[in-house]
Amino acid sequence: MPTDYLVTGALGQLGRVVTTLARQRGRSVVGVDVAEMPLDQRAAIQAVVALHRPRLVVHCGAITNVDGCEAEPLLAYRINGLATAWVAEAAAQHGAGMSYVSTDFVFDGTQDGVPYAVDAAPKPLSVYGACKRLGEEAVLAHARPDFYVVRTSWVFGPGGKNFPRAILDRAKSGQPLKVVTDQVGRPTMTHDLAEALLDIADARPAGGIYHAANEGQCSWHQFAVDILRESGLGHVAVGTQTAAELKRPAARPAWSVLDTDKLAAVRGKRLPHYVDALKRHLVLDAQTQAAEASVPRADDKGGPGALRGKQY
Ligand SMILES: NC(=O)c1ccc[n+]([C@@H]2O[C@H](COP(=O)([O-])OP(=O)(O)OC[C@H]3O[C@@H](n4cnc5c(N)ncnc54)[C@H](OP(=O)(O)O)[C@@H]3O)[C@@H](O)[C@H]2O)c1
Repeated sequence: MPTDYLVTGALGQLGRVVTTLARQRGRSVVGVDVAEMPLDQRAAIQAVVALHRPRLVVHCGAITNVDGCEAEPLLAYRINGLATAWVAEAAAQHGAGMSYVSTDFVFDGTQDGVPYAVDAAPKPLSVYGACKRLGEEAVLAHARPDFYVVRTSWVFGPGGKNFPRAILDRAKSGQPLKVVTDQVGRPTMTHDLAEALLDIADARPAGGIYHAANEGQCSWHQFAVDILRESGLGHVAVGTQTAAELKRPAARPAWSVLDTDKLAAVRGKRLPHYVDALKRHLVLDAQTQAAEASVPRADDKGGPGALRGKQY
């Protein structure tokens, strides 16, 4: 029996929500992660796609530890680049469409003040960005009408490690907070992104690149201020820091605001503002955190180990 969607990275921050919301829409969904479809194995990818014969593969699986990718470029290349080519190959062979979730980190951030359009020239600054761009090229090379590259940015959502929770934990611990001021982008909630991905799957617009991000834009510092304010901790001081002072291994774009016009034209609406998304996130994450205290966390699932854990 063919499946509507095969979701990779189904235990990850985004994959979990895509799977849940797709089922709520009445779709049949098979979610796979490291245990069921290890992305470093081409044969496993072939076998899983052949078994489930999905209408669409929503490819969320990736190594998202951006600094870790600098230390292990070959692994990053294999999982984020090559494996995406293998997923696309298997989807094409079995007549499935594909939605590949990509990133604002394919851009170099020099287009200061002008949102990046879908056809802006990618110029990744990091191994992570370069590998994700290779994945994009592999998907786009098929030129199929139902193959999509959906770029997003600064993803947050309830459960596991997420940026708002990290800020709140630090604030509550009484430790000083310092957050980067000179990187500007669009924080994007998993639920809103998942709805956009599912709308693309329903609408089946022309294949190619789409940008999906919540409305508004901010620096990481402003986002931290927003998180504290919306949590009733607006009195907590947030110190400032530049990206250069932070000295992280991977360079990040200073400006990575995505232009979402093309997706808005398809859906007839934009994603909500990121502050609206943040408010919904804070409610859901508090509930999720309580549940996580009593059961093993999704990100404690084991797996390949080396570069586990997202990091933006
Ligand atoms: N997070 C962001 O801010 C952001 C921004 C822009 C774009 N994106 C893209 O959005 C997508 C979803 O990101 P996310 O935030 O949901 O990341 P995530 O929470 O790290 O989820 C990725 C999932 O892929 C799994 N995975 C890693 N290596 C694998 C392998 N070898 N075989 C099979 N599965 C593997 C991960 O397992 P482990 O946990 O065991 O590693 C995890 O469950 C990714 O393609 C990412 O590049 C994310």
